[in-house]
Amino acid sequence: MKNPEIEKKIKDLLSKMTLEEKAGQLHQSGGSLVGAFDLTLEEILTMVQDGRITEEEGHKMLSEAKHDWHEDDIRAGRIGSYLNVIGAEEMNRLQHIAVEESRLGIPLINGFDVIHGFRTITPIPLAESCAWDMDLWRRTARMAAEEATAAGIHMTFSPMVDVSKDPRWGRIAESAGEDALLNGLYGEAKVKGYQTDDLTRHDAMAACVKHFAAYGAAEGGRDYNRVDMSPQRFEEEYLPSYEKAVKAGARAVMPAFNDLSGVPCSVNKKLLTDILRKRWGFDGMTISDANAIAECINHGIAADRRDAACQALNAGMDMDMTSGCFLDHVKELVESGEVSMEKLDEAVGDILRLKFELGLFDDPYRSGAEQEKAAMLTPAHRALAREAAQKSMVLLKNDGALPLKAGVRIGLAGKLAFDGDEMSGTWSGNVQAGDCKSIRDGLDAEGIAYQPVETDQPLPDCDVFLCAIGERKAESGEAASRASLALHDEDIALLKRLKESGKPVVAVVFAGRPLCLGPAVECADAILMAWHPGAEAGPAILDLLFGRVNPSARLTASFPAATGQCPTLYYDHIRTGRPAGKFKYTSKYLDAPVEPLFPFGFGLSYTDCLYSDVSAAQTAEGIHAEITVRNTGDRAGEETVQCYFRDPVARRVRPVRKLAAFEKIALQPGESRRVAFDIPRAALGYYDQDMNFTVDNGLIEVYIGGNVRDTLQADLYFVSER
Ligand code: GLC
Repeated sequence: MKNPEIEKKIKDLLSKMTLEEKAGQLHQSGGSLVGAFDLTLEEILTMVQDGRITEEEGHKMLSEAKHDWHEDDIRAGRIGSYLNVIGAEEMNRLQHIAVEESRLGIPLINGFDVIHGFRTITPIPLAESCAWDMDLWRRTARMAAEEATAAGIHMTFSPMVDVSKDPRWGRIAESAGEDALLNGLYGEAKVKGYQTDDLTRHDAMAACVKHFAAYGAAEGGRDYNRVDMSPQRFEEEYLPSYEKAVKAGARAVMPAFNDLSGVPCSVNKKLLTDILRKRWGFDGMTISDANAIAECINHGIAADRRDAACQALNAGMDMDMTSGCFLDHVKELVESGEVSMEKLDEAVGDILRLKFELGLFDDPYRSGAEQEKAAMLTPAHRALAREAAQKSMVLLKNDGALPLKAGVRIGLAGKLAFDGDEMSGTWSGNVQAGDCKSIRDGLDAEGIAYQPVETDQPLPDCDVFLCAIGERKAESGEAASRASLALHDEDIALLKRLKESGKPVVAVVFAGRPLCLGPAVECADAILMAWHPGAEAGPAILDLLFGRVNPSARLTASFPAATGQCPTLYYDHIRTGRPAGKFKYTSKYLDAPVEPLFPFGFGLSYTDCLYSDVSAAQTAEGIHAEITVRNTGDRAGEETVQCYFRDPVARRVRPVRKLAAFEKIALQPGESRRVAFDIPRAALGYYDQDMNFTVDNGLIEVYIGGNVRDTLQADLYFVSER
């Protein structure tokens, strides 16, 4: 609902703005990085590539680099927003120029990628999604906003809610995995955490939902590649998570780099206007991805930068992240009539609205050096990062080696066990060297002795080996697609060497994606999927390994046995006319299983739960299902009870399972709980061949359990029109 007072102010301001000032509001500048001898980043890189300077010399020149924020452009009204200004003092300095020294005094808005923490880094989103805990997701977002706004940030390019079904794609790390419901709930929680219910609060920041849309379906798992799918699949599997985050009140949306069935999202009117504005009623701001408008030339959709600017504006794009196409061409496009003044005013109005909503006009200066320093890495923030890490790491195997006992003699193996900086993962905000604690740091802090395993030395005499394997953070995230998900050779060799010792081996896997963990299953007695767990990695890992905390995380992405299973490995796959079976002529591989090594929703704990008495019945709203869960172990634990359904006969092929609801419960030893779910009628629906949304009459199978594979089944005949 628009605020009439703000709308009046927008209208009034627009009436005073020149065409050049309107073009300036559409432009987000990343400044430029000027190294030694006033050389730009590009000039330094060219000199390295040409061999005129060595890479080390280039790094040294950049180490002395400073940002040139082109202050004169602010004064001239040619910049409406910045990307990546970090520091309250610096942002207040730039803001002062905009407010006090430009003709109309329109404040700047400063955006930054606060993806999983700003300075106190929490687990990467794919890890944190394994907590299945909306309250945790909101609390870590709130913490991130407190730190980021103290450093002069007004907007974060988060949450990313791209459903990611292909672990070859490096950006799966930034998502909540392969399921639409989880990505939507994750996005909703993050929006509420970042924005609160009062966006004018100094510690609130605007959320920017990305990447709209279906970026996670990049063909081949290769970043920036094409996305092409049926409109039915798009509506059923990929669109819902963005809708949930937008309907949670996000005030910005970022279109994706990719094309969607042939039309790049940056110039895709169906997406940016028909769906986002008309269908969902979104009245916030759209902002392109970095340089994405200009890249429509590479896509072969725009003839030149002017054409790209024209198409993007007319499709519904408001702000141009760093390409400069809008700044350079809007004036002539409006003067020629290719872009109407009405369309331009809509775009500028969306940007001004966000600035008014953030309170930047009345209250442009935020925080300060002391406040900024005091906000970072507080004990409370570290404690929350530790809690988030404990709840994100998934116990995948435990043949009894865990939990470790006090006094156990540890052999510590693998470079990643000693390198805290690798724990921050991709998109690690404003993390500083030394902020994140490694396993070694955790052991040292607790005074727990360990023997390092050296490659060129005999194995130390110990009771158990902790073996850190997996990905460095640079192997994850944007532009980090992998054609093979196999463990690195050196990790496999290390696992084998440790197994030969005959001592228990506990593998701790660091990664930004599911990997092929077969060698770890063969060689290790226990496996903890630690992901990239952030600031409190080491302490949280020890909390779990020593049993001080009972593991409760559950996978939100399927783990492959072989890379070749991608991209069809995801849990909500279809059955085909020849479901995989023993008979030769069925849908399977000659050289790999069709089932995942570890299924969606899977995770172990130090206790066990027994499921019984499942039931399902139709209600006026949909389906009511129940089950009894009992903790049969000798220690308390948390269980994420998952409720799936299948529509076995429909007018289009339907997934073999679809997550409809879940509930995380805590159970004391011996305690039983009756857990109930209500599945709304609409959740059962799908689009038929003519794009009619349909809820069938017919059998519905309900599956409830601790993961998608191990469930109890209850069937019912659903009457759609009662
Ligand atoms: C990057 C990413 C996007 C990010 C933006 C600003 O290329 O695609 O997720 O928000 O640029 O850093």
